[in-house]
Amino acid sequence: MCGIVGYIGKKEIIPILMEGLHSLEYRGYDSSGIALHKGNSLNVIKSAGKISILEEILKKKGSHSNGKNGYTHCGIGHTRWATHGEPNDINAHPHSDTDEKIAVVHNGIIRNYQEVREKLVKAGIKFLSTTDTEVIVQLIAFHLKNSNSVLESICKSVNELDGSYALAILFKDEPQKIYGIRKESPLVIGIGEKENYIASDSATVSRFVDKIIRLGDNEIVEISLEKTIFYDLVGNKIIKNPQIVIKTKDFLDKRGYKHYLAKEINEQAEVISNLLSDYLPSAEKTVNFDFLKFDKEFLKNIDRILILACGTAWHAGLVGKYVFENTASIPTEVQLASEFLNLKPLLTKNSLVIGISQSGETADTLAAVKKALSTGAAFLGITNKPDSALADLAKDKLLISKAGTEVSVAATKTFTAQMTMLYLLAIFISEHRIPSLELGKEINMLKHELRMIPRLVDQTLTRAEYYQEQVIKYADKRDFVFIGRGINFPIALEAALKLKELSYIHASGYASGEMKHGPIAVLDPNVPVVSIIVPGETYDRVLQNSLEAKSRSAPMIAVAVDGDKKVDSVFDTVLHIPSVSEIASPFLTVIPLQFLAYYIAEHLGRDVDQPRNLAKSVTVE
Ligand code: M6R
Repeated sequence: MCGIVGYIGKKEIIPILMEGLHSLEYRGYDSSGIALHKGNSLNVIKSAGKISILEEILKKKGSHSNGKNGYTHCGIGHTRWATHGEPNDINAHPHSDTDEKIAVVHNGIIRNYQEVREKLVKAGIKFLSTTDTEVIVQLIAFHLKNSNSVLESICKSVNELDGSYALAILFKDEPQKIYGIRKESPLVIGIGEKENYIASDSATVSRFVDKIIRLGDNEIVEISLEKTIFYDLVGNKIIKNPQIVIKTKDFLDKRGYKHYLAKEINEQAEVISNLLSDYLPSAEKTVNFDFLKFDKEFLKNIDRILILACGTAWHAGLVGKYVFENTASIPTEVQLASEFLNLKPLLTKNSLVIGISQSGETADTLAAVKKALSTGAAFLGITNKPDSALADLAKDKLLISKAGTEVSVAATKTFTAQMTMLYLLAIFISEHRIPSLELGKEINMLKHELRMIPRLVDQTLTRAEYYQEQVIKYADKRDFVFIGRGINFPIALEAALKLKELSYIHASGYASGEMKHGPIAVLDPNVPVVSIIVPGETYDRVLQNSLEAKSRSAPMIAVAVDGDKKVDSVFDTVLHIPSVSEIASPFLTVIPLQFLAYYIAEHLGRDVDQPRNLAKSVTVE
C-alpha cells in the first residue's frame, strides 16, 4: 500500500522518479505525485488516478526535462492506495505543511492521527486534506520551529506518532538532502556514484544501482549527493553497511504478454521448477532446508502447526494443512490473520507458527504473527520479499523470491510457489520425524510426484487457448459457484477469489458437501457451478454433489483429468488437465481456474492487472 521513491544525483530527475513510480505502482494506484526543489521553493505536482495521468500533467507543463523546468536534481515521489481520505487530488501525496517548507511522502498508517490533528488544530494549524499523512508533515513543521535541526524535528515528531510508516521528507531549507525514516513499513536506500536513491522496495532501487542498504525500524537516513548518514531516534549516528543486490530480470517487461497476469500465470512451471531445483533436486534426496535453524529435537516434537495468512496466501495455507496432516501427521490449523486477532492463541513451546505473505507487509498477518509469537512458539515466515517486515520478524524463513516479482495485483505464481514451499516443508519435517513404514512410502511417493509437477504444469499451461474458448461463453453470468472437496476445497475458494477480484462477478467457493446445506438455493441457469473433480478419495462425492447442482438447472463446468468419460458425460464444459494424483492436484487444478478468471475479466474489459479498489500489499488492519 503506497510506494515511495526519492532521488538525488545529477541525472534528469523526473524520468527517474517516474520509472521508480511505475516500478512501485503495484503498491497502489489511486493517485500519484512528486515533490521537487525549484529555485527557493518546494514544488508539488500530484493528481488522483493512475501514474499515466500524472505523466500527462507533467508533459503539459513541459516538466519532463530539467533543462527547461529549473528543477534541481533532488526529489521524492509517491503512488497511493487510499486509507484515510478518498482518492482525490488533495489527498494525493506529497503533502506539505502550511508554509510549504516541508514535503512528505508516506507509506503506512498513523493510528493516533486524529488526536495529533486535534492538538495541531488547537495550535492554529489549518489542514487541507483528510489524510493521516498531513498530520505528519504539519507535526514536523510544528516541531521544527523549536528544534536545532531538521533531524531533531523528525525525532520529536515520530515520538508522538503511533502507527506504521516509511517516510521520505524534503525540507525547503535543505535543497540537497532527502530524509527517510521507517517503522514497520519498508524503506531501502540505493547507493550510487554521486547519486543516491530511496524507495519502498529493493527491486526499485536496484533498477538504478547495485548497492543497497535496508533501513531498520526506527532508523533515520540523511541522504545527500555523496553521503548517506544513519541515525537512531535520539540522533546518534549508526553505521550500516551496503549489500550488493543481484540484478534480476526487469519485472516491468511483459515479455510479449498482453498483461502481467498472463505472464505470471504462464511462469508457474518455471517457478516451481526453480524452487524444486534448489530444495529437492532429486526425489532420492532429502529436502534441502538445512539452513533453517530449528533444532532437530524441536522438529521431532512439533505438537501443532498454526498457519496465519490472508487472501490467496490463506488458501495456500489451507492446502498446506492437508499436506502437513497427511504427510507429517501434525495437527494443523489455518487461521485468517484478521480473525486470529480475536482468538486466544493456544500454543506451546512445541508449536510452529507459519506466517505466509507474498508481500511480507500485510498488516493483519504481521499483527497476528506478533500475537502468536508472544506465546513463545517457534516461527517460520514464507514470503516473496526479503525486504519485508515479515522477513525481518522471521529468523527462519523460506523465501520464494525465485518466483520473481509479481506485478499483477491478483496472486497467481506466488500462490503455487507458496504451495511448493509448504509441500517441501511438510516433507522436510516428516524426514526429521520417524514416520511409520507406510507414511515413509507416501513421503517418497510425494517427492516423486512433486518432481513431476513442473512438467505437468507446463502441459496444462499449453492449453490456455482451449480454456479461453471454453470459458468466455460464461462471461455474462450473474454469479459463479466453485466447489471442491479435501485438498481441492481451498482451490474452489481461490478460484472464486480470482474471479471476483478480476472480473467483479460475484463468486463463492464451497466445500462441495456444503451445497445442500444452503448454497444450492442460489442455483439457476444464470449461476454456473464449477466442480473440481479429480480421481481419488473425494471423486465420487464431488460427482454426486455436482449431479445435485445439475438437477437445479445450473450450467455445469468441471476441472477434470484427461479421459474422464464420466465427467465428460455429465458436465456442459470440461476444462481438462493432465492426469495427476489427488495430493499433488492443486498445482494443476488451479491453472484452468486462473485462466477462467483472466479470460472472463479480459472479455469484460476489466483492468486485469490493477483491479479497482485493490493494491498488492495491504498495510492496514
Ligand atoms: O501479500 P499477502 O500475500 O499477505 O497478501 C494477502 C492478500 O491480500 C492477497 O493474497 C490478496 O487476496 C490477493 N489480491 C489475491 O489475489
